Amino acid sequence: MAQQEDVFKKIVSHCKEYGFVFPSSDIYDGLAAVYDYGQNGVELKNNIKQYWWQSMVLLHENIVGIDAAIFMHPTTWKASGHVDAFNDPLIDNRDSKKRYRADVLIEDQMAKYEDKIQKEIEKARKRFGDKFDEAQFRSTNERVLENQQKYDNLHHRYQEAMNAEGGIDLDALKQIILDEEIVCPISGTRNWTDVRQFNLMFKTEMGSTADGASTIYLRPETAQGIFVNYLNVQKTGRMKIPFGIAQIGKAFRNEIVARQFIFRMREFEQMEMQFFIQPGTELDWFAKWKETRMKWHQNLGFGAENYRFHDHDKLAHYANAATDIEFHMPFGFKEVEGIHSRTDFDLSQHAKFSGKKIEYFDPERNESYTPYVIETSIGVDRMFLSIMCHSYEEQVLPDGQTRTVLHLPAALAPVKLAVFPLTKKDGMPEKAQEIINDLRFHFNCKYEEKDQIGKRYRRMDAIGCPYCVTVDPQTLEDNTVTLRDRDTMEQRRVNIADLRGIIEDKVSITSLLKKLL
Ligand code: GAP
Repeated sequence: MAQQEDVFKKIVSHCKEYGFVFPSSDIYDGLAAVYDYGQNGVELKNNIKQYWWQSMVLLHENIVGIDAAIFMHPTTWKASGHVDAFNDPLIDNRDSKKRYRADVLIEDQMAKYEDKIQKEIEKARKRFGDKFDEAQFRSTNERVLENQQKYDNLHHRYQEAMNAEGGIDLDALKQIILDEEIVCPISGTRNWTDVRQFNLMFKTEMGSTADGASTIYLRPETAQGIFVNYLNVQKTGRMKIPFGIAQIGKAFRNEIVARQFIFRMREFEQMEMQFFIQPGTELDWFAKWKETRMKWHQNLGFGAENYRFHDHDKLAHYANAATDIEFHMPFGFKEVEGIHSRTDFDLSQHAKFSGKKIEYFDPERNESYTPYVIETSIGVDRMFLSIMCHSYEEQVLPDGQTRTVLHLPAALAPVKLAVFPLTKKDGMPEKAQEIINDLRFHFNCKYEEKDQIGKRYRRMDAIGCPYCVTVDPQTLEDNTVTLRDRDTMEQRRVNIADLRGIIEDKVSITSLLKKLL
């Protein structure tokens, strides 16, 4: 675990050192849980967004995109339930003065029981080899049964507290924390305050205060911009159900527990798609979107074992089914995307609060209804983090030297090709520039002439550039260059005229999209 934490720290430093992610307003020592993307980070981020956008809007004839404003009419948030129910239950430790989410403390405790069970199972699997029967072991091993019992009890109490009538039962949450003897990770004590509710929306004012400015919110999710535009898009696009509306944009949450770098930020970016369907078909569509979205993730080639679904026990106020796609980060399996069956909650609420009729006339059934919605919602920044974590490697080479390399999927890499003149003379820089001038229209290229070739390779490995080309004296004679592969480090001699053909397909988003079909 400590080793994994070290790796994570190194990834965070790497992100800063190589222009991926900087703390916001760094010269003023940063702003908690807010980050800026640097020259390489923004390219990677744009590529992630393109991969998502094109998989939604290009590959589905019945999905269109929008770009709604961040500011929305304040009633939006009353209707959506965010003013009343977008709260985290918080608890403070009096000794460390640290504030925690009570639900997270309890979920971490449940995860501890699960880990204990898993460890017993792994030990037994090693011992019994092929003959191991997991189901039988789970139902007979004493330690597993004991931890399962503890887990089930806790889970039951937690469910009751979170889903109590009239909202979360804050006293019950505190009692669970006391009964489970959960300690503050900083002070190690159980000196807890009561649990309180805290709304996560940022408020600001629109108009001058003299005019009686109105309080508005920075949107905590992009989804509501889609719901309030449902009628506009359906009518002007003559969309027929089932259809989807996709959007990428910033969202803001006043997160109290802001940890783990860009995993939990106060300003972040979401890629959301609301899919409007006939009521009664939601569980089928929910299953289809689960499958489609998992395929999108696994298509990056990081290994199926690094993903899992986590079905929700506690459903958000709008959902009748929900799951997370979790990715294996250095700090455990963590949510990257949520898939929610939101029923007709949002459209009905907006109809009620706006007084507008928000329905769909189904010509085949000759009837009107309020569509149900399946939502897929993924955080760009969490996706970015998962890609960074999986791609980062400190490699020991056969000659004993080391290199830090980012094995980014080539289609997402910020720079696709680096071109180096072997030396700064004899026309080699000009030839290298000529190659770039020719290829820059097709993919992102970078020219580098400083330092020895070995050092230049290392710099490109560190930003995940999949290909490097070196122009040497032979190039000037026969128009060939050495092409070096980032992952294998193999070099081969190729014609300049063939470079585009060799590289373009491998580094294009299209190559990823084709594998989805
Ligand atoms: N519209 C539904 C919705 O917003 P959510 O589960 O609260 O659902 C969806 O958020 C995704 O947004 C999450 O899976 C995560 O990737 C991302 N996300 C949420 N809060 C975040 C935060 N504070 N920092 C970074 N990403 C966040």
